[in-house]
Amino acid sequence: MTDPQFLKDLAREAGRRRTFGIISHPDAGKTTLTEKLLLYGGAIQMAGTVKARKAARYATSDWMAMERERGISVTSSVMQFEYQDFAVNLLDTPGHQDFSEDTYRVLTAVDSAVMVIDSAKGVETQTRKLMDVCRLRDTPIITFINKMDREGREPLDLLSDIEESLGIECAAMTWPVGMGKGFKGTWNILKNQLHLFSATHGGKIQEGIVIKGLDDPRLDELLGTQADDLRRDMELVEGAGYPFDRERYLAGKQTPVFFGSAINNFGVQELLNAFVDLAPAPRPRTATTREVAPTEPEFSGVVFKIQANMDPAHRDRIAFLRICSGRFTRGMKLRHHRIGKDVTIANATIFMAQDRSNVDEAWPGDIIGLHNHGTIKIGDTFTEKEPLKFTGIPSFAPEHFRRVILKSPLKAKQLQKGLAQLAEEGAVQVFRPLMGNDYILGAVGVLQFDVIMARLKDEYGVDALYEPVQYTCARFVSCEDKRTLADFERAMHSSLAKDAEDNLAYLAPSQWRLEDTQEKWPDVRFNTTREHE
Ligand code: G4P
Repeated sequence: MTDPQFLKDLAREAGRRRTFGIISHPDAGKTTLTEKLLLYGGAIQMAGTVKARKAARYATSDWMAMERERGISVTSSVMQFEYQDFAVNLLDTPGHQDFSEDTYRVLTAVDSAVMVIDSAKGVETQTRKLMDVCRLRDTPIITFINKMDREGREPLDLLSDIEESLGIECAAMTWPVGMGKGFKGTWNILKNQLHLFSATHGGKIQEGIVIKGLDDPRLDELLGTQADDLRRDMELVEGAGYPFDRERYLAGKQTPVFFGSAINNFGVQELLNAFVDLAPAPRPRTATTREVAPTEPEFSGVVFKIQANMDPAHRDRIAFLRICSGRFTRGMKLRHHRIGKDVTIANATIFMAQDRSNVDEAWPGDIIGLHNHGTIKIGDTFTEKEPLKFTGIPSFAPEHFRRVILKSPLKAKQLQKGLAQLAEEGAVQVFRPLMGNDYILGAVGVLQFDVIMARLKDEYGVDALYEPVQYTCARFVSCEDKRTLADFERAMHSSLAKDAEDNLAYLAPSQWRLEDTQEKWPDVRFNTTREHE
């Protein structure tokens, strides 16, 4: 019988976890917001790391710098901090030129996300792509419209941009009074309360100014003519906007929206308070056989990302595992189901911002880093006993392609081995066209190619080059009718390839050709994602 005290602890610890990622387009203010959030959590030394990581991004041509950056990013990949009674796990979703499949996969390990939008720019391309990934799991999203201290777009215009471009309802939670030089603060719609802006007060909600609703004449004293603007705006929002609906937020259909200025620490605490209050605790996760609740006593977890470790001499990688149920304790024995082996997890990294050394246990929603010498791959499930296999860690259709050309033909074996391992790790996708002996690499972000080339040389002694190829998109192909699939394979033979796990993929030279092929083969499915086997 499971100890009732343990079950109580488990329910409490799982219930106070908030595991999330921030999605945004570069320069919207993700780094700045992350730093301010960490400051509230008292993890100041980590805040410095976030900036350092960003600075390191600019030296990407230099392999050592990349290694250094990876070192930093291992520690800042998961930032845990305590806030009020909550343990918050913020998973970094790199979103700049090092945008890669990792970015996408991290989003499969979070329970919710915060979306940062630049008030002058509105929804941008990367935001849209990340949002598509969130939609795969209906991830709940809270929106922070940043840089209100600058002249930007009208708030109502921004909300309709989000609704139209991203197909999600917006529920304003705060409302800005002016913007740029005329930015006076925000009105908290639920609390009926004014939060006055000043660049110097450090984000604290000012005490002492109590405004009782929009009709309070003190509003006019404080805001002048902008008080009437606010009243008008609020009428519009009430008439035309969506009221906040928790169920719709949790279903990923509605996003509560906050306005602020991360750099001035304005609106960040309001955001954080609402986040811990509204965002979901770890939820049940689907395995092939059943759903697994976080409060089940048996430990289970799934690997969603693999990253090279800091020390290149050791070829060590860290596998990031999200705990789905039960408790992890250092030294516990876990079953690695894909290879059917028990492993003792002695030296896992438990990501904690505070007092790392004293932490020996982790709970659902937490992330642990397992040292990995090539036996762990993305999508692997670890449990104490029950053979489970979690689903929902997809592979994404790559958008960039290169052909690999060996400098020395004698290294063909090493190239094959290197690419097989790198593909298994999820660092890149490898395609073998059905015709010919080429290796075509596919990536979601172009920086992945530099990393692969450097690692092929460093870890496998392979000197190679890239050649451009004419492909622009790949789709994983499937069809219920075997005959149609065989016909399709025959007809399209020269455009088909197998990926590292033997899945059939169609490589298209242009978007137009893809659409044309889809029209000609209506019974064939062209999938942009596929789940790891
Ligand atoms: P990112 O991680 O999403 O790429 O964005 P990051 O936080 O680095 O912010 C991008 C730029 O926007 C930075 O300026 C940052 O200072 C600025 N910024 C962030 N929040 C606000 C805000 O609320 N108001 C204003 N006016 N600016 C903001 P930078 O000049 O590119 O970098 P830095 O020299 O300040 O570091």
